Amino acid sequence: MPDFDMVLVGGTGDLARRKLLPALFDAHRAGLLHPAARILATGSHPSTTEEYVATLEQGMRPGLEHAPPGDWASFVARLCYVQADARQPEHFDALARKVLSRQPEVVVCYLATAPHLFVPICEQFGRTGLNQSNVRVVLEKPLGHDLDSNEAINAAVARYFAEEQIYRIDHYLGKESVQNLMAIRFGNALFEPLWRREWVQDVQITIAEELGVEGRGDFYDQTGALRDMVQNHLLQLLCMVAMEPPTSLTEDAVRDEKIKILKALKPITPQEVAEKTVRGQYRAGAIAGKPVPGYLEEPGIAPDSRTETFVAIKAEIANWRWAGVPFYLRTGKRMQSRVAEIVIHFRDVPHAIFPRPLTLSPQNRLVIRLQPEESIRLYFLVKQPGDTVALTPTSLDLDFANSFKVRRAGAYERLLLDVIRGRLGLFVRRDEQVQAWRWVEPIIDTWADSSLPPKPYTAGTWGPAASSALLSRDDALWHEEV
Ligand code: BG6
Repeated sequence: MPDFDMVLVGGTGDLARRKLLPALFDAHRAGLLHPAARILATGSHPSTTEEYVATLEQGMRPGLEHAPPGDWASFVARLCYVQADARQPEHFDALARKVLSRQPEVVVCYLATAPHLFVPICEQFGRTGLNQSNVRVVLEKPLGHDLDSNEAINAAVARYFAEEQIYRIDHYLGKESVQNLMAIRFGNALFEPLWRREWVQDVQITIAEELGVEGRGDFYDQTGALRDMVQNHLLQLLCMVAMEPPTSLTEDAVRDEKIKILKALKPITPQEVAEKTVRGQYRAGAIAGKPVPGYLEEPGIAPDSRTETFVAIKAEIANWRWAGVPFYLRTGKRMQSRVAEIVIHFRDVPHAIFPRPLTLSPQNRLVIRLQPEESIRLYFLVKQPGDTVALTPTSLDLDFANSFKVRRAGAYERLLLDVIRGRLGLFVRRDEQVQAWRWVEPIIDTWADSSLPPKPYTAGTWGPAASSALLSRDDALWHEEV
């Protein structure tokens, strides 16, 4: 692992505290960081490193309980707080001097701030020389608010950094299970012949959360589920499921296949939005038996907000492999349970010689679960034991935690290590991002122009009734099994 300095812009923020620093701490504990590597956390307020570390320790405490104190002490020795307000050029002069005087092999500048600060911060990096060829810049999502603002940010960042220095992060691509999806598809000959319109009835991708907006009301109310989850995480998963086999695992071989899928997504026209999409907003309800407030009662949310906390979409891919196969996408906050999964429903046998079990769900299903546990389950029919010809459903189960008892890096840890090693494959290329915005934008615009509010759903359920209706119009059902 090369020696590096990581400049965490937004080092006092929620993302740094909840995800980035814990991920770096895990990598440190696993002995994966170069001994000389440093983390320079920046914030707009004056503070000392000691004060910063004390606050950080408070915030990270529950996760630190099982770590030996020596590990924390040696990790903290890598940390340094630097005041860097985007409006104060002299702050960035000092920051650049600090980094450039040491000359680490790699410098990672992680922009964990609001996107409107990306451009002024990149300007400062460019002005102070923190954009040399060994510098890599990491851009957090959401990159912009729509296609135009996304392009404006990308164009501005490109003035200071070459494309191969830019790491657009989508943490779903760092999840072990998402990479496993590639391994399952392209490491085995078994599934590939079936992975097409002739054998697949529909594909469902769900990312359901129990959490609400968790103190991020201001951000979330400006964003909504379509921008927060669909434009990035769900479309990236869709690409991984639908793309053609890449010729190799090199970064552009994979990304070239993903962009083809994004380009092949059938546009949803304004006239089709009502028929192919559902947007919902949660009302008060209960999660795991505990009452929770409705979205409109959350702090930071406008009382008449029309921001969606749930989205379901029927997407289609216009190419030879997938023409006519619905890809049902769904995500929501305050849903019945936390689950992220990809379900491939295979077609029924062409001619039934056994009586069929009475259920509407397809009998052959492959369920690739990403969360809460990582598993793969293949459902099929077998003969019911005894003196009968009836069939009964059963499944083959693979639970990764039980099968492989090794430490698994979290998504952010893996991606941060990839940035340090200069591996771009799990990061989103500019053209992918543009194409994803292009596809979601007509939906955003049509919703914004509509006089209809999002459909209400009770917290702790699977979303509005319209979400089930979206599928029942095609005689399909969401796969819901907890
Ligand atoms: C983030 C979204 O990108 O992903 C959050 O901004 C969401 O709103 C989170 O909660 C979900 O990630 P995970 O890994 O917990 O499923």
